[in-house]
Amino acid sequence: MKAIQYSEHGEADVMQYVDLPDPTAGHGQILVKLEAASVTPFDWKLRAGYLKSHFTLPMPNVPGRDGAGTVIAIGKNIRDFRVGDRVAVMAGVFAQGGYAEMIAVDAENAVQIPDNLSTVEAAALTNAGLSAWIALRTAEVKMGDAVLVHSGAGAVGGLLVQLCQHLGADVTATCRSTNRDYALSLGANRVVAYDQEDFSEVLHNQDVVFDLMGGEVHDKSYKVLKAGGHLVWLVADPITDRSHEYGVKVTRAVVTDDRSALRGMMELAGAGILKPQVARTMPLSQAAEAHRLMENGAITRGRLVLTM
Ligand SMILES: NC(=O)c1ccc[n+]([C@@H]2O[C@H](COP(=O)([O-])OP(=O)(O)OC[C@H]3O[C@@H](n4cnc5c(N)ncnc54)[C@H](OP(=O)(O)O)[C@@H]3O)[C@@H](O)[C@H]2O)c1
Repeated sequence: MKAIQYSEHGEADVMQYVDLPDPTAGHGQILVKLEAASVTPFDWKLRAGYLKSHFTLPMPNVPGRDGAGTVIAIGKNIRDFRVGDRVAVMAGVFAQGGYAEMIAVDAENAVQIPDNLSTVEAAALTNAGLSAWIALRTAEVKMGDAVLVHSGAGAVGGLLVQLCQHLGADVTATCRSTNRDYALSLGANRVVAYDQEDFSEVLHNQDVVFDLMGGEVHDKSYKVLKAGGHLVWLVADPITDRSHEYGVKVTRAVVTDDRSALRGMMELAGAGILKPQVARTMPLSQAAEAHRLMENGAITRGRLVLTM
């Protein structure tokens, strides 16, 4: 099969488009012919070596945390899947990733794709969807809550906007001014454009803030929470926990490969409640260019998806 692989950390061009032996389905595994895989910020940060102190990758490494395609073989003891099923898969950090034409995964790391979703849409929903679902679950958003979603035009933020709107929250999103209408179309009740306004000067009394940025955005977010409010953060830039100073709760959303979370997202998308956001597609062979675009902040309005 064709795959993207790197043997050392470094710039995007350490990623090579190579031929690798086809994987096979082991006990309890399914073999999937991939049609799509998403490119996440985690992928390029890991490749660049920024996360070396947390993850020692086996080398050479095939990147990618997810993928979507069709089951072409099943190992022993598989009951949930048959050859021909369309599935979305979660790929472990230390296992072969989704930037490849095939992947073998444990059945518990796969879910069926609803008929109304393409494999590209399913890939856009997999890792981003897991992150959004787990962040939402961590925050325990309720109907009527005032919720601020930072990065509301990004892959995870865009899904959080849709999920919070579905729950009946009063949603504010931050994004660049040219994405204002886009974030409103996802269900935000208002938008604060970070290139025009300082959100911490115009917002108050939020029940929940989703921080997908860290750093200065995290610091300023305390000011907009009501006493007893909840700041839920995903790992991005480093943060300083100031919960005691402000009388709020600060929780990191710990994103893990969670089949029930992924199934929940697929069901909502299958029911038409959530719309996966695909920023752009590029062929697998252009993965290095895809990473460069992402590192430069050129990808907006959802996920960049590699196609095979
Ligand atoms: N395990 C975890 O903890 C976990 C899981 C998933 C994601 N994350 C992290 O969460 C972050 C977002 O992930 P993602 O996949 O959604 O990334 P993404 O799709 O690349 O989105 C990034 C977004 O950040 C927005 N942005 C940039 N500067 C901003 C600012 N000052 N204020 C508000 N928004 C700003 C951009 O908005 P515009 O396009 O409007 O400019 C862009 O859409 C990443 O840092 C990622 O590493 C962590």
